[in-house]
Amino acid sequence: MKGIILAGGLGSRLRPLTKVTNKHLLPIYDKPMIYYPIETLVRAGIKDIMIVTGGNSAGDFLRLLGNGKDFGLKDIYYTYQEGEGGIADALKLCEHFAEGQRTVVILGDNIIQDDISPYVQKFEDQDSGARILLKEVDDPERFGCPELDGERIVRIEEKPVQPKSRYAVTGIYMYDRRVFDFCKRLKPSARGELEITDVNNAYIKEGDLHYDVLDGWWTDAGQFESLYRATQLVASAKEHAPV
Ligand code: G1P
Repeated sequence: MKGIILAGGLGSRLRPLTKVTNKHLLPIYDKPMIYYPIETLVRAGIKDIMIVTGGNSAGDFLRLLGNGKDFGLKDIYYTYQEGEGGIADALKLCEHFAEGQRTVVILGDNIIQDDISPYVQKFEDQDSGARILLKEVDDPERFGCPELDGERIVRIEEKPVQPKSRYAVTGIYMYDRRVFDFCKRLKPSARGELEITDVNNAYIKEGDLHYDVLDGWWTDAGQFESLYRATQLVASAKEHAPV
């Protein structure tokens, strides 16, 4: 299993914080944002990690993370996404790295309390397909939002005006090797990006998208409110952590 962290983009929703630096280098309480998805993967036993960066300050990732010694890694792979082609466009850059293996993909601004190991284990037990993680939220219109028929996801809508459920599709995705074929077949959305939601919908069409619902907290950190919330959640988890 390989790990992929998508940490590109211009972070325009966080300007001026991102005017001279990359969103994923901003602080969340006592660490740069990018530390959290790396720790999430490492905790799940995934040590073969590629970081896709882009936009400003790409070189600072190397200065900050080096070969990943601070996380117990032997090395880290890096690649660079030109422009703002979207999440699925960034993912395309990792086909070579994946070498036909399964991947756990995390958006670099997603911070999660749970250890994802049990979900990764369930994914390993699947014969094929994809696995996503859902979380009940107050504002599903800000995210990819699933429409459910009983226990089955029938469709995912990206930032729907009228959400069909109270769930957000979190930015933690598990894919088999077919993900790269699906990415290649995508057409840009109305906002001109290749959407990860369309990749997940392609798996739904194949009848091979599975999911779990998260218990612990989860947040993104791509806007001022969520960046602030992420800091609060991490700070309060530290405060209540057993010493
Ligand atoms: C992206 C995805 C969305 C997902 C979210 C999770 O949205 O497009 O489907 O729910 O990440 O953080 P973005 O943050 O790029 O608007």
